[in-house]
Amino acid sequence: MSVRSMQIRVNPVYLTAKTAVCLMEKAGIPGAAKIARALALEDKALLPKMTDAETILGNALVVEAKYRTMCRLIEASGIKTVVDLPCGYTPKAMYMTEHARNFVGLDLPIVVQEVEPIIRPLVSKAAEASFRGVDATNYPSLKAALHDVSGPLCIATEGMMMYFSEEEADTVIANIQTLLREYGGCWITPDPEYALQFCGTFQAVFGEESLAKLMATKETAQDQSAVASFGNSFLVEPAAIPATKARANALLAKHGLKAEMVNLGEQLPELSLYKQLASDQIRRFKEAMRNCHYWLITLDEKKGLEDTARHREEYPFGLQYTLNEKILHLSLCGRLDTISAPELLIMWEKVNIGGSIEGVRIDCTRLEYISSAGIRLLLKIQESCSSPIVFFRANEKVKEILQQKGLGKMDEN
Ligand SMILES: C[S@@+](CC[C@H](N)C(=O)[O-])C[C@H]1O[C@@H](n2cnc3c(N)ncnc32)[C@H](O)[C@@H]1O
Repeated sequence: MSVRSMQIRVNPVYLTAKTAVCLMEKAGIPGAAKIARALALEDKALLPKMTDAETILGNALVVEAKYRTMCRLIEASGIKTVVDLPCGYTPKAMYMTEHARNFVGLDLPIVVQEVEPIIRPLVSKAAEASFRGVDATNYPSLKAALHDVSGPLCIATEGMMMYFSEEEADTVIANIQTLLREYGGCWITPDPEYALQFCGTFQAVFGEESLAKLMATKETAQDQSAVASFGNSFLVEPAAIPATKARANALLAKHGLKAEMVNLGEQLPELSLYKQLASDQIRRFKEAMRNCHYWLITLDEKKGLEDTARHREEYPFGLQYTLNEKILHLSLCGRLDTISAPELLIMWEKVNIGGSIEGVRIDCTRLEYISSAGIRLLLKIQESCSSPIVFFRANEKVKEILQQKGLGKMDEN
């Protein structure tokens, strides 16, 4: 099996980015049709739960508003280097290089390998666009990806934070804070209020029927990302706006960051999709967007470095194994995440011929962290064994992650 199919299996969330480019094509965003054609995307495969034209229209409206407003806010920052994390398959590289910006697209390796050869020929100033594979929860991967880039940076995050667990969201915020300290600049994101933008759009345009359409949207995202439930402290919940906004601000403050709220209704450019709406739908939509904000996040200079400095894991990933009477003895080092999990999966498929392995013992002495992609793989390994995986010598963080997921058995010796 290829490394590429291994990558798909450990982190299927990248499929959501293909849905986004289909919706951008529907919204007539320049460049999106060419990208969708090059990817050979078919609506049927990507919009499976979006059964009616209105659901697709509602989603396309959210996506168009986000894309065009983000482009406007990035330009308004005045910063010349745009780091799009995650870049997905959007035409932003084309837009930004045409508007005198350097563009650095960061995403999971599986996306970058596919998107780079498609977008490069479409970018007029190819030298000003680059694409690099990262895992946003993995700081060394971000640092390596930006080794030849100079600051300040305008980091744009669109459609990523909702896929993270509490622990992952916290790690990504810490990583972005470190980048802002090293390079200067700002972080712009619509993600904290993505649910408000969705609910506001659907209610304004479809009224009473909006709920069923929203549920269809949510099911699609969950099917594609293998995320069981969306929710972490960075996200504002429509049913508890003041409390969850305060929670997200507190999370940023903990990392020495502060947010300025940019009113979406005030910044929204003219949208192509207005052509498909009645004038009172447009009026209600514009009004509803006044209740949503994009967050412009910067370092809070009042906070000292010592408040926020954080241990950085720097061990490279490594694994060693021996097989003894149908028991696999494995030792892991570094981080088990989207970047490293395919290596473990390849090893597992090589040794577990015909499902012959009955149990696994994992020495975690040098294992520093496990992300959702790592957990997904361990659960898959667990499924194929007759006895629970035994983990030993795990650090407190790894123990907590494993216990939260009810995975395996701890051996304290
Ligand atoms: C909904 S898409 C958004 C993509 C793009 N910004 C857009 O607006 O279409 C989510 C993206 O997050 C990326 N992603 C998910 N987990 C990630 C991680 N740990 N590190 C980097 N990118 C990640 C996926 O590969 C996917 O491209």
